[in-house]
Formats: sequence, structure tokens, C-alpha cells
Amino acid sequence: MSESPNPLEEGLSLRRTPDPCVLVIFGASGDLTHKKLMPALYALMVRRLLPPRFAIVGVARTEADDDAFRKDMKEAVRQHARDDFRDDVWEELAANMRYVATDFADDGGEDKLEQLVSELDAENDLGGNRVYYLAVPPVAFSTIVDALGKRRSGAKGWTRLIVEKPFGHDLASARELNAMLEEHFTEDQIFRIDHYLGKETVQNMLALRFANGIFEPIWNRQFVDHVQITVAESIGIEGRAGYYESAGAIRDIFQNHLLQLLALTAMEPPIDFTAESVRNEKVKVLRALHTPGPKSVVRGQYGRGYVEGVEVPAYREEEGVAPDSMTETYVAAKLFVDNWRWADTPFYVRMGKRLARRETTIAIQFKRAPHPPFEETSAEGLRPNVLIVHVQPDEGVSLAIGAKVPGQGMQIRTVHMDFLYGGAFRTAMPEAYERLILDTLLGDGTLFTRADEVQEQWLLVDAIVGAWQRDRPGFPNYAAGTWGPPSADDLLHRDGRSWRRH
Ligand code: BG6
Repeated sequence: MSESPNPLEEGLSLRRTPDPCVLVIFGASGDLTHKKLMPALYALMVRRLLPPRFAIVGVARTEADDDAFRKDMKEAVRQHARDDFRDDVWEELAANMRYVATDFADDGGEDKLEQLVSELDAENDLGGNRVYYLAVPPVAFSTIVDALGKRRSGAKGWTRLIVEKPFGHDLASARELNAMLEEHFTEDQIFRIDHYLGKETVQNMLALRFANGIFEPIWNRQFVDHVQITVAESIGIEGRAGYYESAGAIRDIFQNHLLQLLALTAMEPPIDFTAESVRNEKVKVLRALHTPGPKSVVRGQYGRGYVEGVEVPAYREEEGVAPDSMTETYVAAKLFVDNWRWADTPFYVRMGKRLARRETTIAIQFKRAPHPPFEETSAEGLRPNVLIVHVQPDEGVSLAIGAKVPGQGMQIRTVHMDFLYGGAFRTAMPEAYERLILDTLLGDGTLFTRADEVQEQWLLVDAIVGAWQRDRPGFPNYAAGTWGPPSADDLLHRDGRSWRRH
């Protein structure tokens, strides 16, 4: 038998052992369960990070029995897990894995589920503890939350609820969702997922800023010229037209992942690393975000093009997309955080599908040296210092600095000092969902978004989308496989700046 990897070396530390519990997954036949949740549970089992007594119950509409469900999940793990498949680990995970076929709208389904969960609990001594994972479309939330809320009120053990995105469609629907959840559960029982917060490199932004003395003093308007945040994807919408047509890049990425990256970059140091302290600081940044005027936001939609040498269709040609769709697949914006630290420092952000390649980076561009004492020609190849956090791929951090080119003269050029995760830690990166599931089992909400954060995020999105109603851009306006519409370049050129080169 091969040895289990050491979780400490992988940054998934055993802070304490989670309590025994049942994890109920609603939406168990969906993509997320196959591609992310089950492989993450398997990885946690490989590393012995799951509670010593633990059961999983899948809930979905699809007719199937326990064996069929386990077979399906086994296949999902084989296909998508980051570890080699091991029968012994799988058997242990599957030992207490059950399935309930119900659409949950009828009371019978709910009773069936409760009966099964109670049986598993009694057999395994799970203390009445439950995690409910809502991996279902938002329309299904209210029935489930309502039923669980009533059932779990005053019940033995703890109850936690993981809520997948999208969390609402606009501010009003997000408020409604929050109100519905809060009717039955307290904020510390609700775990709203933004899977970017589970990424190692995103958390490393906090380590970089607050575990090092050298960055914080220069992390402000005096030293930073501007910040660029890029969430570029080369993939298209992957058959998700039904969802994407009404979401677009602004709701799919900007409202959640992008704004969270910005909040972590701009926030003040929290007094400690608890859920309340970290989220208090993030929400202050979100509140300080100035609503951008129409000239400061660019939207785009891809036409046909080539991605990595392969011809791909235009967005409007994707299956399920309206031939005259006005859904944006690209957004760029110039944002300002109106506070003492950042006043007048632009945060340029961009995100899109079918861009030239996959890249998520946060680049802090510092001001130029005030007076380089060299001849102008010697520093022609010199760019201002930039600290780049490579969120993915090639995870790491790099600092662009000026250095003397070897030789007799005084030629200066930009070079990079690189820290690469792979090289420094010699270990594979855990998947975001591993960390997020483990944190829920431990009851730690630090890496989840709080009700007020989500609402602030929607407030900004509503303002941007509201302004979009007034005009109709000529879509498509960028070819697949490029870096987005030319107007996104103009957004920076107008300020005498340009997007980072790739
Ligand atoms: C999801 C979006 O939240 O994030 C997808 O709905 C997107 O459209 C995905 O592709 C990107 O996640 P990652 O982890 O691959 O960067």
C-alpha cells in the first residue's frame, strides 16, 4: 500500500479533528459533485483529515440506489481526483455513503432523508451533527432550507449549511436569500462558497502582506501606481448556456471571485485571523468601492477565433445561446477604493472567457524610481517595479526589478525574482474544495463570504448593470483567443498606462 501524503506538508493542517458528522449533498448527480466535491472528499480521506466517524448522503432527483450512487462516485473519483486511486481509501469513504432519490419538494422525500440520516447517525454515533451542502440551483434553495430549518431547530448536535454560488442574481434576490437563510440559521452556521478563497495562492495574499514586514509600509497610494487584476480563461462556457446567458461575466466572475481578490489585496490588516476580523476588513473595502462611471467599464463578447491553435465558435454560436445574445463574456473596469490608503489609485480589473490563455494574476505596480541617476538610454529596458501574485497557473509570486546587464557599460533591464510553489514546497497544491469542506467540518467561516459582503458585491454589480441598459454595444467585439476588445486597452491608454504584457 502506498503511504498517505503528509497533510502538514500540503498546507492542509490538522488544526484539530473535526467532530463526527453526516454530510448531506443536495445536487449529488450534478457536475460539481462529480468533478469537485467527491474528489475533494477523497483527497481528505487519503490524508486522514475527515472526522473519524463520518457518513455521506447524496440527494438528487435521479432514480438510483446506494450501489449505483457509489459506483458513479467511484468513477468520478477515478476521473477527477488528484491522487492515485486506492481501493482501501475508497472502501473507507464509501462504507457510509448512501443515496436518496427525491426532488425534495414533496414531504415524503424529506422524511425519507431524515430517516436515513438518523439511522446513519445512530449506527455510527455521529452526535446529531449535520452539514448540508446545497449544490443545487437557487430556485431549489427555499424548499430545502425551509424544511431543514424547521427540522433542525432545537435538534441535537450542530447544523451547518454550505451554499454554492450563484448567491442571487442581484441585490434584491441576494437579500431575499439571506433573509430566508437567517430565518432558520445563524450567520455562523451559513457557509457561502466563493471557491477562489479556498485557493492556496489567494490565501497567500494574506501571508505575503501580513507575514512580511517589508510590503505593508509600501502597500498604499504613496508607493503603488496602480493595481491590475486579471482573471482570464481560455475555455468557453462549457455547455452552461442556460446559466451563463443570464449571468454573463459580471455575475459569474466579477461579482464574486474578482471582488474578493480585490478585497484581499486592498484590505487593512485584520487584528487576527478569525472569520469576523478578516471579513470585517474585507467588507470595508467593498463598501469603499466607488461606483465606476460608464466610461470606466468595458464589456465584450467573443466572436469566432483560435484558442491554442484550435478554431472555436463565437459565443452566439454556442449551443443554447441566442443568436443575438447581448450577454457579455468579458468585462474590464477601472475601480477606486475610496479610503486613505488607496484614494486615487486605480484598480484595473479584467476577466473573460475565450481569452488567449488561462491566467489569474494580481499585479501591484509601484511608482517609478523618482530620479534614476543613469543616462536615459541606459534604462530604456527598465519598467517600474511590479509585484505579481500568480494565482494560477504557475502558482507563485514574482517581483520585477531593475538590474544591471553584465558588461562594461551601465545598461539596466527588468528581471524577475521568482518564488514558485512547486519548487519551494515540492508538493502538489490542494484543491480549493478540500480546504473549504474541511473548514466547514471544523466550523471555520474565515474563507466564506458573509451576508453583508455578498450584498455589497451585488450593490456594485447592480449599479454597473443598470448603466448598461442605456446602450447596446456592437457584439461580438473580440475574437476568441485574443486579450479582449480594443476598448479595454483604451481604458488604460487614456491614463498613460497599459495592461501587463503576457
Ligand atoms: C466558476 C465560474 O465560479 O469559476 C466558471 O462559474 C469559471 O465560469 C470558474 O470557469 C473558474 O474557476 P477556476 O477555479 O477554474 O479558476
